[in-house]
Amino acid sequence: MLKQTLIKATLAGSKVLQHYFNGSFTVSSKSNINDLVTQADKESEEAIFKVIREEFPDHYLLSEEAGDLKMDSNTKWIIDPIDGTVNFANGIPICCVSIGVEQDGKMILGAVYNPFINEFFFSERGYGATLNDQKIKVSDKSDLLRSCLVTGFPYSYLDTPNGPLQVFEKLIRNNIPVRRLGSAAIDICWVASGRFDGFYEHNLNAWDSAAGFLILEEAGGKVTDFGGNYYSPYQPNILATNGKIHDDLLLAINGNWNP
Ligand code: IPD
Ligand code: CA
Ligand code: CA
Ligand code: CA
Repeated sequence: MLKQTLIKATLAGSKVLQHYFNGSFTVSSKSNINDLVTQADKESEEAIFKVIREEFPDHYLLSEEAGDLKMDSNTKWIIDPIDGTVNFANGIPICCVSIGVEQDGKMILGAVYNPFINEFFFSERGYGATLNDQKIKVSDKSDLLRSCLVTGFPYSYLDTPNGPLQVFEKLIRNNIPVRRLGSAAIDICWVASGRFDGFYEHNLNAWDSAAGFLILEEAGGKVTDFGGNYYSPYQPNILATNGKIHDDLLLAINGNWNP
């Protein structure tokens, strides 16, 4: 039932994205003028909540726009009603609905759906990961110098030591392609499906990475924080790779990589 509700909620949210995409909708700013929230973010969130609440009225919901709706439940839904809002607001079809389900502190289900290219990533702990029902797995590249990476940039702390700009500079000075798609959930899923070999980002929130984290692990990848510790979506920094370039990328992030 959890699984069906997750799929139904993800599709309900994505219908809202499709409805408003390239049309007119209200847009406002949050922490700075380019940190956006649109009418579609809010309505997608409402549509997702409605589906979940119908089946599981007492589950805990944590969602980007509504915040922390704490309940006394061992099941928590971690929801990003649009991941890639800036893309969405500009009519760029790289955005998605991302929902992870955590039970007793462990991610057990994850769904990431980009309706504009009809890509539905899904995972249930212990059963692998799929893209549109086909099994996916990470790439087998092991040389960081030949890897294709993806990242994102936070709105602040850009140039702290070993911050986003320094890490980016180190990689691109070594001619490593580092893409920036604008949706962390899609970035992680594209590592899971082998398009990218690794993803890193400073300062994410739990709703950006919760679903992708499980999808990538179940596709054979590795996810840690920047200290190499097992990942928790409740801390800010994520390194998500095919496993084989993980140690070198960890060194690069910490300023100790000498190719
Ligand atoms: C953002 C996207 C972006 C990442 C930002 C996130 P939002 O989420 O995932 O790729 O770089 O850090 O905040 O705001 O579009 O849901
Ligand atoms: Ca946002
Ligand atoms: Ca997000
Ligand atoms: Ca969002």
